[in-house]
Amino acid sequence: AHHQHSSGAVSQLGMHDHSPTGVSCEKFVAKEAPGPTRKFDLTAARTVLQLDNGETVDAWTFNGTSPGPEIRVTEGDRVVVTLRNKDIDEGVTLHWHGINAPCSQDGVAGVTQDAVRPGEQFTYTFVASAPGTYWYHSHQMSSIQAKKGLLGSIVVEPREPSAPFSAAKEVNALFQRLDSSMLLNGSSKALSVPGKAGEQIRLRLTNGDNETMNFSVDGAPFQVIAMDGRDLHEPGHLSGVMIPVGAGQRYDLLIRLPESKKVIVKSQSATGLSIMLGSGNEPELTEGGAMFSFVDYGTPQPDDPISKRKPDRSYVLRLGQSLFVKTINGHSFHEIPPINVKEGERVHITLINEGGGDHPFHIHGHTLRVISQNGTPLTGSPVYLDTLLMKEGESYEVELVADNPGLWMAHCHNLGHASMGMTMMLNYE
Ligand code: C2O
Ligand code: CU
Repeated sequence: AHHQHSSGAVSQLGMHDHSPTGVSCEKFVAKEAPGPTRKFDLTAARTVLQLDNGETVDAWTFNGTSPGPEIRVTEGDRVVVTLRNKDIDEGVTLHWHGINAPCSQDGVAGVTQDAVRPGEQFTYTFVASAPGTYWYHSHQMSSIQAKKGLLGSIVVEPREPSAPFSAAKEVNALFQRLDSSMLLNGSSKALSVPGKAGEQIRLRLTNGDNETMNFSVDGAPFQVIAMDGRDLHEPGHLSGVMIPVGAGQRYDLLIRLPESKKVIVKSQSATGLSIMLGSGNEPELTEGGAMFSFVDYGTPQPDDPISKRKPDRSYVLRLGQSLFVKTINGHSFHEIPPINVKEGERVHITLINEGGGDHPFHIHGHTLRVISQNGTPLTGSPVYLDTLLMKEGESYEVELVADNPGLWMAHCHNLGHASMGMTMMLNYE
């Protein structure tokens, strides 16, 4: 099957339907899982949703809601999700954002599979190999379908109950824009989480919108314990620092409720959608406003596996715009030269944001290790991301290990930008 029926996002965006190198995805399937099999069913359907702000939205939902049901599994589980499409004419898929699933399960219409048509189904299988905060969304015309509601959260819990912070109370907060309403876990209201003084709360923040969200934490010091689902090493305590969560990114914060039991986490991009921890009362606002920087946050990992050997390949990607087209290296879509790799190679990539807004650069199937920001090498914890937020004028050096053969997309996760050209491929030779 060579995708001759595909009318996926990518083909509609003008990308080639198949690999120029002749590699296809089908043979790359899930390996054996150490843990049990966990089955889920998600049915995509047109649904008229009554929001709790009184608005009525013609939404597209999974199992009748947006976000769809939270998928919560344990590290090592074999995850089997059957996607059915009831009546969405454009077709749908599921992409596991941040999970390095095998290529055939990555859910990119027009590249790894055909979109699932009304009345059809597709079963995804992958191993939840790394604990963390992730999310899923349709990858058929994603800029439209995510905003219509086809997204949800997936959390992989650590298998070891002794894992750091696993005793903390969990709060999962997924922000999205549904039509014109900003929502938090599907609601237009603040989220209140009662708690006792001294209690530790792990707050998983996911930005499912297309703009950067800057969060403040008032009332208590806090730690950033994970970015994009990957733990940070010995994270320090922060106070009065804003957390910039790029579109598609996740940040896990650890907050210990103070004696006052008044903590509020909020973003100006989502007014009214505060997260009130503890007593539900507003704390004193913390002075500050500096942006969180991971450049010197935490400490280096003693057993850091990073290799000192020279990378096998280097690429430079300049993200920018010309007129109304969003470009990488001056081109858009299939005119952007792909990143080519061979399995096992280490690839060094320099990324530069030359304009056109924030560009949260997302890569499928792989993890980016950040080496430097604006010329300053990282000196704290190793930072691994699947979505690198780049503000205008910024430059980053990252490295990836080519350990997941197939055909992969890389694109800006401002999905509007992606649909305006900022979409390219990573191909295995
Ligand atoms: Cu979250 Cu290519 O997407
Ligand atoms: Cu962008």
